[in-house]
Amino acid sequence: MAMKVALLGCGVVGAEVVRLVNEQSTELSARIGTSLEIGGIAVRRLGRTRGTGLAPELFTTDAMSLVTRPDIDLVVEVIGGIEPARSLILAAVKSGKSVVTANKALLAEDGATIHAAARETGVDVYYEASVAGAIPLLRPLRDSLAGDRVHRVLGIVNGTTNFILDRMDTQGAGFAESLEEAQSLGYAEADPTADVEGFDAAAKAAILARLAFHTQRVTAADVHREGITDVSAGDIASAKAMGCVVKMLAICQRSEAGDSIGVRVHPVMLPREHPLATVNEAYNAVFVEAESAGKLMFYGAGAGGTPTASAILGDLVAVARNRLAATSVGEGGHDTGLPVHEVGQT
Ligand code: HSE
Repeated sequence: MAMKVALLGCGVVGAEVVRLVNEQSTELSARIGTSLEIGGIAVRRLGRTRGTGLAPELFTTDAMSLVTRPDIDLVVEVIGGIEPARSLILAAVKSGKSVVTANKALLAEDGATIHAAARETGVDVYYEASVAGAIPLLRPLRDSLAGDRVHRVLGIVNGTTNFILDRMDTQGAGFAESLEEAQSLGYAEADPTADVEGFDAAAKAAILARLAFHTQRVTAADVHREGITDVSAGDIASAKAMGCVVKMLAICQRSEAGDSIGVRVHPVMLPREHPLATVNEAYNAVFVEAESAGKLMFYGAGAGGTPTASAILGDLVAVARNRLAATSVGEGGHDTGLPVHEVGQT
């Protein structure tokens, strides 16, 4: 029987999730071991199917009834913000649904409540898309590095500010004109406060710190935050003269004694030879320093409908597989039966 997915929100990312679930349905069902079906979509206003090609009857404004509907197995939340997202996710979890969310603000503020509720009912809450969009980062931090000791995480986790600082550095542009360009390219919001004042990066830093240091205690309010609005052309020039570049970094760091952690977000003068100094345009990257693994860098698109939907679909496959308690081989799903071709053939 197909697993039914309820989608909360159908903006740019939500519509991409629907498109990919439908377009890749054969591959996804082979990987999971059962098919995924969109069972309903909660939106603020009815009347448009938002280019999804889905039947209008699938759309509803009653999100609460949708997430608690007995036939729904999985819930994808892409509304953002604290409420009603928190109440909807908690209701879904308490009704035994697994949840995939991209909601950094909610997780950074109240992830502990959501994870506690999920533990109680034994369901998953996955949120790879909440930090650095398409980059596989959160599950590697939580799972692949679970046997290591992470000392420090340095991240460019806000594409808008990276774009602005990159333009100021490479084209000698001023802050205002770089921001305008970021807005015209669709990176920055019409109200860019959350990006340029570091609120967006602070929420992401809190999530990174919780995963890197295996604690539920860090919230966005614990993150020291400074934005980039005071970075001047003079600052960029001074950094250049010293062989540095100005980057807006999220920094999560264990204390020397290892008994506390500090989390901060602010512009930093970074030596040009540091791997993060080469991250340009609106790309994101996260540099992890771990005791046994050494230095690792995760790089890619941190925003955008399709890249973000990729992270959501990865989580959907994972929670669906967990739900099926799929296979013991650790690969999940079923073998696709794809033959191996000889190198040189296409
Ligand atoms: N405004 C964010 C950014 C979008 O610029 O990175 C992705 O969270």
